[in-house]
Amino acid sequence: MENFTLNNNTTIPAVGFGVFQIPNDGPTYDATLAALKAGYRHIDTAAGYMNESDVGKAIVDSGIERSEIFITSKLWVQDHGYENAKIGIENSLRLLGVDYIDLYLLHQPYGDYLGAWKALEEAVAKGKIRSIGISNITVNLWNKFKDGMNLMPVVNQVEFNPFTQQKELRKVMAENDIRLEAWYPLGHGNKDLLENKIIVDLAEKYNKNVGQIILRWIYQEGVVSLPKSTNPERMKGNIDIFDFALNDDEMKAIEGLDTGKASHNPEDPAVEQRLMGMKIHE
Ligand SMILES: NC(=O)c1ccc[n+]([C@@H]2O[C@H](COP(=O)([O-])OP(=O)(O)OC[C@H]3O[C@@H](n4cnc5c(N)ncnc54)[C@H](OP(=O)(O)O)[C@@H]3O)[C@@H](O)[C@H]2O)c1
Repeated sequence: MENFTLNNNTTIPAVGFGVFQIPNDGPTYDATLAALKAGYRHIDTAAGYMNESDVGKAIVDSGIERSEIFITSKLWVQDHGYENAKIGIENSLRLLGVDYIDLYLLHQPYGDYLGAWKALEEAVAKGKIRSIGISNITVNLWNKFKDGMNLMPVVNQVEFNPFTQQKELRKVMAENDIRLEAWYPLGHGNKDLLENKIIVDLAEKYNKNVGQIILRWIYQEGVVSLPKSTNPERMKGNIDIFDFALNDDEMKAIEGLDTGKASHNPEDPAVEQRLMGMKIHE
């Protein structure tokens, strides 16, 4: 597995295994264990996915050293605000069964965001979290929050794939040395993306599947990807992307697929209202 360096000089495996929408109490345990056996060393969960405990159990049962595995989790909006965030961090540590988390993100940009960020900064100082980051932050939201942050986020985890390239946001994040992480790297299974002729032709040329072409492109763009699969073959294939390289023309051809649109708009008040109303508890 290849790594990227973050702005605090730590490293992050370039491809992580995402466990969004995999249920707890069995399925997440099985998927995480299978992913670790397949060679993943980076797991992306969240308090909001309500499956941190299965991730933690699978890590223990994998027999792999804790220090070999990069764990990301995220604080849900109901735990925003300084005091609530301190409790939320402790809950994640307890459910994961670990004494530190490699990367902890503020999952959504609502409520008392900077109060929660302060609690994350303190948890870094106490060694409970190694790195902190943001998610679903647009350029406008970055401009709103950045001056209230003492510690620079190491990543911004946003929707990103060949159809959704976030060009303006990437520029602003690059200026601040904040690495992008791609959620929906495979378009959440979007057929138009997975059957796109440019990508299908490259898959034939390199004897890879379309998912591998997309994930290789994301890797060459310097973006961390978090593909999810519960299919053992695709799970293995999605990290088998380091034995070939797309050339400049091929990178540009995929760049040309950008629609400039995303399925998720964090600035939409209806999205904010819906997510603020979502109560989670494992
Ligand atoms: N921060 C946020 O707000 C946020 C939001 C959404 C997601 N995320 C993170 O991003 C991760 C990925 O998102 P996602 O799971 O929704 O979308 P995704 O990884 O883009 O797509 C997963 C879908 O693609 C299929 N698939 C996997 N590998 C494939 C391949 N090689 N070829 C063809 N199809 C393939 C999977 O089906 P099979 O299982 O059948 O293979 C599944 O239906 C999440 O698990 C989560 O960690 C974060």
